[in-house]
Amino acid sequence: VNDKTSNGHKNDAQTLYVAAPSKCYPININYGWIDHAFLKALAHERHVVVITDENVYALYAEILKGLDVYVIKPGEASKCLRVYGEIQAYLIEKNLTRTDTIVALGGGVVGDLAGYVAATYMRGIGFIQIPTSLLAMVDSSVGGKVAINHGAGKNIIGTFYQPDAVYIDTAFLNTLPEKERSCGMAEVIKYGLISDSALFEQLNHMVALDWQQQIKAIIYRCCEIKAEIVSKDEEDKGIRQILNFGHTIGHAVESYYHYSGYAHGEGVAIGMYMKTCMAYASKKISKQELETVRQVLEKFNLPRQVRNTNDLPSILKEVIHDKKAEGKCFKLIELKRIGETEMVSYTYESLLQRLGEINHKEMV
Ligand code: GLY
Repeated sequence: VNDKTSNGHKNDAQTLYVAAPSKCYPININYGWIDHAFLKALAHERHVVVITDENVYALYAEILKGLDVYVIKPGEASKCLRVYGEIQAYLIEKNLTRTDTIVALGGGVVGDLAGYVAATYMRGIGFIQIPTSLLAMVDSSVGGKVAINHGAGKNIIGTFYQPDAVYIDTAFLNTLPEKERSCGMAEVIKYGLISDSALFEQLNHMVALDWQQQIKAIIYRCCEIKAEIVSKDEEDKGIRQILNFGHTIGHAVESYYHYSGYAHGEGVAIGMYMKTCMAYASKKISKQELETVRQVLEKFNLPRQVRNTNDLPSILKEVIHDKKAEGKCFKLIELKRIGETEMVSYTYESLLQRLGEINHKEMV
């Protein structure tokens, strides 16, 4: 615990643990604690290579002074075999050994790529996640899913490789673009919808001014939910799949517009809202609850529907190409009520029929 303050708030360090079968590791959360001295101390104990992107580097070059840093171009396109190979070559050039460490300083792209590099360099070396985006803080930096993309799809080449630690400094959010903040909030809303109705209510009552004050506790709660799920099902064979709520449709939306029409969080928001409408159509939630979900997405500037609803049937065709599809049958996570989900099996035809039951006017 320390008594550093910012915006008049006392800041307490918080720690929780992910007890995954392959590794138990801490998630440390606080405001304004990751600086040059902190990174130098990490690098004092072992050889550290920091992987980051140009946006983060432009903002935080000062704290990286004197460290070995590999800077990638921002964006999903960097999660590819070419960049992966270039980083491996850099690590060989720097003589990194199996007892050294890769630090991922950035958002989901940096974390996924750096993690896959760490998992495979010399069959696995040290790996620390320092997420700088809200989405990475609440989701991608925790749980060990690391991957790069292939022409055939997102995250096709990957593995599970848990970090040794996740260090979350919420001061990084001060420089996060508004749209990125919204995308992170999509994942936060997801945790509320799938497993914590109290968190969802908190989001419902949150006003813009509260954001700074509440975000640290919200991140802690999201990490707590994720840590519990990952500890039970590290390899995504059962319960962990609830974290994909809204993601199958979300990925289809992202892919249909060639990853340039909608960001990941926006696709997820659209997917979650479609699922919420399905839950309403099958009387699992009330009109009032549907309206609350609509308002919460709106509050955080998230879309609920694609701009051209005529694209919908073609977008849904993409769903069956999702990597989770098994033959013609695939499973989707659905809302049972706010704060609880269930798994439902579909074929493309039965999904289209189910979606036909939705009153699309209600969705916009
Ligand atoms: N982002 C979903 C998961 O980590 O399982």
